[in-house]
Amino acid sequence: MPSLTIEQILLRAYQRIDKIDAHLLLQHILAVNHAFLLTHSDQMLTLEQTNHFLHWVLQRSEGVPIAYLTGQREFYDSVFKVSNAVLIPRPETELLVDLALNLTSTDRACRILDLGTGSGAIAITIAKHRTLSQVTAVDISVDAISIADWNAKNLCVSNVRFVIGNWFAELSDEKFDLIITNPPYVAENDPHLQQGDLRFEPKLALSADHSGMNCISHIIQTAPQYLEKDGWLLLEHGYDQADECKQLFKRVNFTNICSYPDLAGIMRVSGGQFSASS
Ligand SMILES: C[S@@+](CC[C@H](N)C(=O)[O-])C[C@H]1O[C@@H](n2cnc3c(N)ncnc32)[C@H](O)[C@@H]1O
Repeated sequence: MPSLTIEQILLRAYQRIDKIDAHLLLQHILAVNHAFLLTHSDQMLTLEQTNHFLHWVLQRSEGVPIAYLTGQREFYDSVFKVSNAVLIPRPETELLVDLALNLTSTDRACRILDLGTGSGAIAITIAKHRTLSQVTAVDISVDAISIADWNAKNLCVSNVRFVIGNWFAELSDEKFDLIITNPPYVAENDPHLQQGDLRFEPKLALSADHSGMNCISHIIQTAPQYLEKDGWLLLEHGYDQADECKQLFKRVNFTNICSYPDLAGIMRVSGGQFSASS
């Protein structure tokens, strides 16, 4: 393969993948911004850069998510390492972080639990903004915990500890002021699992039995044992699961039960406060 200019290689890429994707991939390989691509269109790529880019174009044309190719994704105000062992953090999950930050403050030490931490995006972001608080982040996937631990160290966030475990199982008799979770909630037969990025993400991170409600239901029912009096549980769920979640919260005596819309106006997070003495 002869060396090509930025313009020539982008023209080749456009035949197979989306223009924006081509720019993002080339920017990552060259470690430059978009303006650089436009203003240096006649710059020659090295052979190594050319081969690397064309390999990524091929993988992208087969559907591999951009974040798994570049190995990173921005979430809130940080960049997180990702691999195909973790869910790619979604912009709509930032709502969960905003709500958690509203329930806590910079001058009070809270104990916060993030269930199903994946890349650690939620836990690490909250820990970074609530430096007096202690965040515990649980995941059943050893590979996910190792990525989350790497992200915390890379972002110099030290007030988060990682636990490998099945939801609450490794937490013995600990209590938390706030539990947050973005659990798997897609129904196992949902056709979206066969489309787009979801085809490449871990099933363990995406889908759950009982029309996607299995993990949500377990977490809502078990959370009261792990909440301080007046502690909160906030969870992300599917676009059509808010009513069912609120019923579950009600059944185990949560109060102040509410659902919150994401930027697209879709009810995305539901939560409640546990005031009964547990
Ligand atoms: C939807 S992903 C959320 C990842 C991350 N919190 C985020 O929002 O980007 C759900 C996570 O739950 C984890 N998980 C699935 N079953 C679990 C279980 N039984 N116990 C603990 N974590 C589990 C998965 O490994 C995955 O990382």
